[in-house]
Amino acid sequence: MKTVVITGADRGLGLALCREFLEKGYRVFAGQFMPEWPELDRLRLQYPDALQLIALDVGNPESLAKAAEEIRNCTDVVDILINNAGITARGEGAIGGEMDLSRSLDAFRVNCLGTMQMVRHMLPLMQTGEKRLCFISSEAGSISVCARNGFSGYCMSKTALNMGIRLLFNRLQPQGYRFRLYHPGWMRTYMSGKKSTVGKIEAEESARVAVSQFLEDRDWEDRLVMLDCYNQAWPF
Ligand SMILES: NC(=O)c1ccc[n+]([C@@H]2O[C@H](COP(=O)([O-])OP(=O)(O)OC[C@H]3O[C@@H](n4cnc5c(N)ncnc54)[C@H](OP(=O)(O)O)[C@@H]3O)[C@@H](O)[C@H]2O)c1
Repeated sequence: MKTVVITGADRGLGLALCREFLEKGYRVFAGQFMPEWPELDRLRLQYPDALQLIALDVGNPESLAKAAEEIRNCTDVVDILINNAGITARGEGAIGGEMDLSRSLDAFRVNCLGTMQMVRHMLPLMQTGEKRLCFISSEAGSISVCARNGFSGYCMSKTALNMGIRLLFNRLQPQGYRFRLYHPGWMRTYMSGKKSTVGKIEAEESARVAVSQFLEDRDWEDRLVMLDCYNQAWPF
């Protein structure tokens, strides 16, 4: 049974990814950030043997270390790591105006630095597995196609994430790691705190495309490319 670890799995894209992998027969370690949110517990009733919930706050070093230890106690191998957890820096207007500094710092801590730490903790378990490192980023981090004039904390945190991924790629791709960098599209998820009614795609649809990209074998693993939910490439 292949093993996948997914961060930010309570709802939105993370939850949809858990469902996809469970349906495909994977063993799933799901990072649970919101124990009060019922959907992961419901999914566990459906897949009591294959789904394991792991308390995980990606922005908190102690939580990361504890979660990694818990996963280590259950398995010797992780085949796929999906770094999905992400937050916006709410309350931001146009650049140069008001900036919620603490929320922007949170965005960096979770979206970028926490993600890098998560990889560090999982690498020892990935050496003998399929070595698939997957990242949910965003077009919002792309410098060359940026048309926004605000939303700076979130955008900058995703740009920083992309750089972190590139650095990891330079080091780990020669060791056989396969990188997947995914922009999930504008989804009707919970990033604002409640289910969005705008957006262009449901998390479930985006998750199906993501999983096909994450699992496909490419003869161009020596290139780091950000693909979106329509399989289009984005500059980053
Ligand atoms: N939605 C979009 O249109 C869109 C577009 C491009 C990229 N993305 C990216 O897609 C990924 C998934 O986002 P989504 O739209 O599915 O968002 P979502 O519905 O908010 O789901 C993300 C989950 O991660 C949780 N989370 C928040 N902080 C966390 C932390 N410190 N540690 C672990 N989990 C944490 C969230 O909890 P809370 O609800 O309590 O915050 C939520 O349950 C993110 O990386 C996001 O940046 C989303």
